[in-house]
Amino acid sequence: MKKYFNQKKVLITGNTGFKGSWLSMWMHHYGAKVLGVSNGIPTSPSNFSDLQLSNIISYKKTDIRNFKKIKKVIEKFQPDFIFHLAAQAIVKKSFEDPKTTWESNTLGTVNILESIKSLKKEIVVVIITSDKVYKNLELSRGYNETDKLGGLDPYSASKSSADLATQCYANLIFNKRNIKIGIARAGNVIGGGDWAKNRVIPDCIRQWSVGRTVELRNPRSTRPWQHVLDVLNGYITLAIKLKYKKNLYGESFNFGPKVKSNMNVLKLVEQMKKTWKRGKWIIKKNNTIKESKLLQLNSIKAKSKLKWQCKLDFNKAVSFTANWYEKYFLQKKNMLNYSIWQIKQFNKIK
Ligand SMILES: NC(=O)c1ccc[n+]([C@@H]2O[C@H](COP(=O)([O-])OP(=O)(O)OC[C@H]3O[C@@H](n4cnc5c(N)ncnc54)[C@H](O)[C@@H]3O)[C@@H](O)[C@H]2O)c1
Repeated sequence: MKKYFNQKKVLITGNTGFKGSWLSMWMHHYGAKVLGVSNGIPTSPSNFSDLQLSNIISYKKTDIRNFKKIKKVIEKFQPDFIFHLAAQAIVKKSFEDPKTTWESNTLGTVNILESIKSLKKEIVVVIITSDKVYKNLELSRGYNETDKLGGLDPYSASKSSADLATQCYANLIFNKRNIKIGIARAGNVIGGGDWAKNRVIPDCIRQWSVGRTVELRNPRSTRPWQHVLDVLNGYITLAIKLKYKKNLYGESFNFGPKVKSNMNVLKLVEQMKKTWKRGKWIIKKNNTIKESKLLQLNSIKAKSKLKWQCKLDFNKAVSFTANWYEKYFLQKKNMLNYSIWQIKQFNKIK
């Protein structure tokens, strides 16, 4: 894949976050000139800061809610590719602050779309939404791209709206063929370097690394767990295919794991415990946060049109993740090398 990105200008919004920091490393590894755009460092610790990624990519602190500023950044940089990941991505926080969530996730996405409208050059744009964009009918079959959208909680609803806005711009507003845009919907992502609060694995690691017990919110909730590298590989594959295949413009793609990787939270934590042997948990009572119980994605479209599918099964995805955190606490300083090593290992898998 290197040949597609070598020396290309790649703009990544949300570069200081979990997925964005990995994508920044990966694009840098491929020889791209990366510009990251985010509103700051969202967590402490932070993958972006720990791995000193500002030494290998450019970073512009910008809030995507500010239309004038983001437009100026995009026009000045003249990217060949944009991966739009910036979002208020935590469900719990979306209840505490729905307004910021809507502004960042929906209007922030509209600001990106508006900013690229006037670009004259050819540009590939991948807009990242979520598996949570679908109206959750607690179906046992996986959701496919033609199913109804309609996220329930403020985070999911704001991402559904961002998804609809993108479809609208792609199909009705961008009539120029220089903007090659696609939508990527993925499920619950795991991997080293995620330090977000109220996500299962970071919550476990935070507690277990200091010998404490973690409280699990929804142990029976099933999620399509997949490794961050599999998901990013989906975004990267979509970007490359969009560049060469006109019939993909404006299309949405699910990037979910195989059905076997749909596991409940308890199974995920039990699997983590195989590496973190002293990990303990209790089940939280009176959970007031309303979240969907079952979400599965049908990724047949990505398999047939993009030739993409997850390379890491559930056990491998968890062991990549658990090993990363184990190394982090043993040899913090070498995590950039170790992360690039994981990317190389991943690329070797056929
Ligand atoms: N992690 C998951 O399990 C998951 C699952 C489905 C979809 N997604 C989506 O993938 C994307 C990345 O997720 P993540 O887990 O890396 O999130 P994250 O919370 O780790 O990172 C979010 C990033 O967005 C930036 N950001 C937030 N609001 C901003 C604003 N107003 N202006 C500029 N930057 C802003 C933050 O600074 C950070 O860099 C998000 O769009 C998220 O909705 C994530």
